[in-house]
Amino acid sequence: MLNGKNIVVGVTGGIAAYKAADVVSRLKKLGANVYVIMTEHSTKFIQPLTFQSISQNYVVTDMFEDPKTWDVEHISLAKRADCFLIVPATANIVGKVAHGIADDMLTTTLMATVAPVFFALAMNTKMYENPIFKNNVATLERYGYHMILPESGRLACGDVGAGKLADPEHIVQAVVAYLSRERRMTGKRVLVTAGPTREPIDPVRYITNHSSGKMGYAIATEALNEGAEVILISGPTGLTPPPNATFIAVESTQDMYDAVMAHLDVDVIIKAAAPADYKAQSISDQKIKKESEDLTLSFVKNQDILKAVGKIKTHQILVGFAAETTDVEAHAKKKLLEKNLDFIVANDVTVEGAGFNGDTNIVTLFEKEGHSTSYECLHKNEVARIILDKVIERF
Ligand code: CTP
Repeated sequence: MLNGKNIVVGVTGGIAAYKAADVVSRLKKLGANVYVIMTEHSTKFIQPLTFQSISQNYVVTDMFEDPKTWDVEHISLAKRADCFLIVPATANIVGKVAHGIADDMLTTTLMATVAPVFFALAMNTKMYENPIFKNNVATLERYGYHMILPESGRLACGDVGAGKLADPEHIVQAVVAYLSRERRMTGKRVLVTAGPTREPIDPVRYITNHSSGKMGYAIATEALNEGAEVILISGPTGLTPPPNATFIAVESTQDMYDAVMAHLDVDVIIKAAAPADYKAQSISDQKIKKESEDLTLSFVKNQDILKAVGKIKTHQILVGFAAETTDVEAHAKKKLLEKNLDFIVANDVTVEGAGFNGDTNIVTLFEKEGHSTSYECLHKNEVARIILDKVIERF
């Protein structure tokens, strides 16, 4: 199942380090070439010789040892790895990688790789619940690192709660599932728009909306996971773009229009952004002072980017969104037709669990051929997968 795959297992200093031996053994049995890098702390828990015997490869512990004894230097290992698996992953390694610290062989190799990295977390419950650690995990997830979550149970320290290393079988399954996943969008180019836009009013003010960009970023990440080449055009959000996407930051709807029009040479266009429909008729050069009791501003319509693309598109699969507060079906179907879309992802933003700012959405897909499918409340990553499944069906 893993025949010929190069997997680098990083072992860090936790009680569960001995279980990494079982993980390495399982990976070997599935046909992988396994290279183990141990942190210095991990060698207090288990001997390098154990991993050397099981992996049948030299185990690296010291960054400054003579490279002649080891035929795979850390940079070439970082390049050749199909996957990194950190097991057990302590709060310490998570914190170091999240902050770009590279002070030993494992962290320098991790810093130098673009291969997928899995952290099989294991630590004391209180450490696991520590908001600093949680924040570090969130940072790593934003950069596309994968977490294999711990189980709950009685921990070595006597505490009961979350923090117990996942079963070695589950850890190996997570890696196998990832590496054997079909890349169904290999060779395809996908353009995704995300986030709100900002329309300036004066040098210090603008109007915008509540779009977080999460849906568009999730689609971009999933498309990359499916092997696509991704261009992500985004208005201002607090999110970190996926590292392998071509990222174009924009401010106003006009900027987004220009960026989209310059990148129409793609196979799929997914417009998850919520561009402002109107812009100020005139932008004041100076800050508007609060001189009068009331203030009236005039707005003029922005271009409808999706509609414009729908008019000129040729072969591209075109997907739009419809954020509604009433008559979802009627509005969505109208947009589907008027904007010449292949399908539209509609949601009622007033419903709990759906809409702009949360991590979940409740959507219905309306297709141009007339059929529709409604889904329950799902994480935006799941919604992204459903959208891409539909796109792939259409290839
Ligand atoms: N859209 C766009 N350009 C705009 C406004 C919207 O490309 N100026 C796109 C959005 O990215 C989305 C779709 O059109 O994919 C529908 O957006 P939505 O805000 O739901 O609808 P609007 O077409 O703007 O219509 P209304 O605001 O009247 O509901």
